[in-house]
Amino acid sequence: MKRRTFFRLGLVTGALTVTRNVFGNTLFEEKSFSGKTGSPVVLSTWIHGMEANRAAWEILNKGGKAVDAVEAGVKITEADITNRSVGVGGRPDRDGHVTLDACIMDEQSRCGSVAFLEGIAHPISVARAIMEKTQHVMLVGDGAKKFALDQGFKTSKTPLPEVKKDWKKWKEENKDLFKKPQINHENHDTIGMIAMDKNGDLSGACTTSGWAYKMHGRVGDSPIIGAGLFVDNEVGAATASGLGEAIIRIAGSHTVVESMRYGFSPQKACEEAVKRILSKHKDLTNVQCCFLAIDKEGNIGAHSVYAGFNYAIKSASENKMVDSTFDRNW
Ligand code: GLY
Repeated sequence: MKRRTFFRLGLVTGALTVTRNVFGNTLFEEKSFSGKTGSPVVLSTWIHGMEANRAAWEILNKGGKAVDAVEAGVKITEADITNRSVGVGGRPDRDGHVTLDACIMDEQSRCGSVAFLEGIAHPISVARAIMEKTQHVMLVGDGAKKFALDQGFKTSKTPLPEVKKDWKKWKEENKDLFKKPQINHENHDTIGMIAMDKNGDLSGACTTSGWAYKMHGRVGDSPIIGAGLFVDNEVGAATASGLGEAIIRIAGSHTVVESMRYGFSPQKACEEAVKRILSKHKDLTNVQCCFLAIDKEGNIGAHSVYAGFNYAIKSASENKMVDSTFDRNW
């Protein structure tokens, strides 16, 4: 398409020019980041992020690396056996197996991921070991478990007795779900964490037990690089929580980071990702998806389909929960 078929709408930021083509599609010229980076900060999805941030901050505050901070941070949530959506305290799938998904990505765009992993206490550390010790990005199921055991990772018996009791009750009450592969909508509040360290380097981690009472073998967005998490150290980082299937369909976190690359603020980038999800679903019943992002300059954004998403922020000056903006009320 020829240049003259575009018409200019005006400047949005110093470096960004927004244009629309004749079809009305918005186009952007790539933003050049100033190179100025923010101070150390860590962001995590949901209330469990407060505790996780505390552990991450101990590392960031001492001048440690963002990748070490995010691993240490989400390990706190994975180790919390009262948490029903992350780690070994998580709810099982329909067949009674607690299968865990996690991924990690660092400032060099190195990444590691583990999915459908059973009986290992810290999937995020397995993901990191895959990143650092293998030539692969992702290991799943029995292969992931074998790797974890070979690496000396601790095992853990799942589901926990009280979780098993709940699952049996749920199974009794939801017999119809087994007749065909319907979805159910139990909670699945992943922890996604993104951080910037004192060098301005970005990293992220994401870990979950996934959708409670999911079909056996189901994997959500959380271990999928580009869906549940994406980091590009030149641009920014994003993570997601909510209905993994919807997030995967739009490569959610990658979409957020690419929007930032082309000039959107983190807030606007999260809003655009939500908008894309809205446009892909005729029926938005229970399609709750949430995005959290930071750019290279330390600007932050978050947006969700429905009200209710919040995130924890910790920096030298802040330690609090923040409600995200949202598109609609339930
Ligand atoms: N977002 C977590 C999952 O869908 O498994």
